[in-house]
Amino acid sequence: MELLDGKKLSHQIKEEIKKAVAMRIEKGLKIPHLAAVLVGNDGASLTYVGSKVRSCEQVGFKSTLIRLEDSISENALLLKIKELNNDMTLDGYIVQLPLPKHIDDEKILLAIHPKKDVDGFHPANFGRMALEMESFIPATPFGIMEIFKRYQLDISGKHCVVIGRSHIVGRPISILMSQKGQIGNATVTLAHSRTKGLEKLTQKADIIVSALGIPNFLKGDMVKEGVIIIDVGITRVVDKNHPKGYVIKGDVDFKDVSRKSSYITPVPGGVGPMTIAMLLKNTLLSCERNTN
Ligand code: GUN
Repeated sequence: MELLDGKKLSHQIKEEIKKAVAMRIEKGLKIPHLAAVLVGNDGASLTYVGSKVRSCEQVGFKSTLIRLEDSISENALLLKIKELNNDMTLDGYIVQLPLPKHIDDEKILLAIHPKKDVDGFHPANFGRMALEMESFIPATPFGIMEIFKRYQLDISGKHCVVIGRSHIVGRPISILMSQKGQIGNATVTLAHSRTKGLEKLTQKADIIVSALGIPNFLKGDMVKEGVIIIDVGITRVVDKNHPKGYVIKGDVDFKDVSRKSSYITPVPGGVGPMTIAMLLKNTLLSCERNTN
């Protein structure tokens, strides 16, 4: 079993981005600038956004954190988005999800200008990605593809079972893995809550991408010998013995499944750090597309 070390890879990618920024500065080009909008005080969102902003500093990007009250109206948030769309100093921005219940996520995501949508959530980017056109690929699936690339895992012709059909992970990774190209050409089954006989599918899979959000869901008897496992789950589970009061758990019963797998991502330290690295990559790409 070999560990797919997302933490190590993300450091490498950040180093590459840092060098690209230094080169841009040397040439007198614009420094990439990312903004993050955080509405409210959700604990997990605060952690993620904090980590995104810190990562910007590490690679030499400019970053702006915009914190808004939980009670902000949908219209006021839309006005803020309009302002960010028109802000020529920004290469990209993200609106951290989930948003408060009184705000329609879809309305907000549609208002973000596709050229600044470094999360790749706007339908224009999703459609362009599906058609293999230039776009922003959502950071988590982009990070998974980068793991395949950098570990030189050949997914062509392999049977991959993706568990979970979210717009952010399951759906896009199923498209990316099946598309033509250097990394792709997999035969993908997209499984979800209505799938019948999931075990029968996972037991035959060469690759399993689990993006379900149920801790320890995937067990050793559900996979075949030599399987490649990508665990996207990051669920906070209460643990009174831990100083933070919780631990992060993946979808995969790591001890059980790693015995049978050829490659596996750990949680934490697998897909999570890659997501942030690829958000930075998208911001750099946006800056290059705007100013080169
Ligand atoms: N909430 C959970 N993951 C993400 C993400 O990748 N982007 C944004 N904007 N919100 C999220």
